[in-house]
Amino acid sequence: MQPASSRRWRGAGIWALYAAGFVPAAYWFWLGATGRIPGNAIKEFEHVLGIWALRFLLATLAVTPLRDLAGINLLRYRRALGLLAFWYVVMHFLTYLVLDQNLNLAAILADIAKRPFITIGMACLVLLLPLALTSNAASIRRLGKNWNRLHRLAYVVVLGGAIHYAMSVKVVTAEPFLYLVLAAALVLYRPFRGRIARRRRPAAGLRARPEQSG
Ligand code: HEM
Repeated sequence: MQPASSRRWRGAGIWALYAAGFVPAAYWFWLGATGRIPGNAIKEFEHVLGIWALRFLLATLAVTPLRDLAGINLLRYRRALGLLAFWYVVMHFLTYLVLDQNLNLAAILADIAKRPFITIGMACLVLLLPLALTSNAASIRRLGKNWNRLHRLAYVVVLGGAIHYAMSVKVVTAEPFLYLVLAAALVLYRPFRGRIARRRRPAAGLRARPEQSG
């Protein structure tokens, strides 16, 4: 059991991360609301929310390799990073729904069915839902090993998100390519995790508790 003061600091750090995490959305919302986004403001806002969703997804999946390979333990922030990714995807989706498509349901459904990059984005949002709903201590206890299995969907979502981004741009420039490479590296790391960690720390090996794997 940790002392109460250490638990309080830990909680404060996590709330600080949530507060900082929502700054880009709040800042760009303010820019948009005050007419300060040049060019196509809706597209820009959509872009910012999508990019931050992807960044938080990548950060969530980077927690395990950072701990294994660099000894930096950010495990206590992983849930907040994952939930920030989820809320950015929801905001990105709402921007598309309300500002981009003006809640025109027929156009939205046609878009989801006909434009593969939108279909992939939508699939990622649907897959993120059970992850967000089970990202609490009660679900981890209730689902046991199945919790880990379910949360492997995060690998599909990060790859899907990076592919969705690359497909949404007319020309694949360095930025979407970099996100694709990072997503692929973070997913490909998982099957090699045990071997890499054993080679780096032969004596300590890997101590993976159920909620820490992945
Ligand atoms: C994990 C889920 C998702 C992630 C990580 C994500 C991320 C991104 C990113 C990074 C972009 C590139 C923005 C740009 O450069 O312009 C983008 C574009 C876009 N996304 Fe998503 N997205 C996701 C889900 C969705 C969903 C559910 C929808 C709507 C059904 C959607 C609709 C769009 C649209 C319409 C664009 C293109 C905007 C344009 O025309 O420039 N995305 N997304």
